[in-house]
Amino acid sequence: MKHTDYELLAKQAEAARTEYLLSFLCNITALLNESMDELNWAGFYFVKENKLILGPFQGKVACVEIARGKGVCGTAWDKDETQLVPDVHQFPGHIACDSASNSEIVIPIHKDGQVIGVLDIDSPILERFKEEDRTGLEKIVKIIEETICSTPASGLI
Ligand code: SME
Repeated sequence: MKHTDYELLAKQAEAARTEYLLSFLCNITALLNESMDELNWAGFYFVKENKLILGPFQGKVACVEIARGKGVCGTAWDKDETQLVPDVHQFPGHIACDSASNSEIVIPIHKDGQVIGVLDIDSPILERFKEEDRTGLEKIVKIIEETICSTPASGLI
């Protein structure tokens, strides 16, 4: 499996910035899917009415709502901490949207000091995600946070 070039990915994410947030987030999922080996799902959930709601993604049809503290995504939100899960079958309460998933990484996304969503990436390979992925993806999430914070919320597109 080839290592992800996070420096290049960060440049591509910067270049994908646009005032149209939905378009930006869609392109981020495409970039992640193109740049990272051995993924079966990459996408976003955003907080609405105290639940995580499915956002743009690449992969199979996924669950739409996740409660706070539930699954890997709800835990990343509740603890405000990246969850790097080498084997999802060992994670209590893991929500299996795609049965092909064996490992997962979920990074919280912030605005004004609050978690407003998560970036969720799944792999069919056990122990797919390493510390370098955590560091690299947290930098990508910083770019996403800056883009969200500098864009006035104005509906879907
Ligand atoms: N596995 C996640 C649910 C989302 S899907 O992987 C797309 C979880 O346990 O929160």
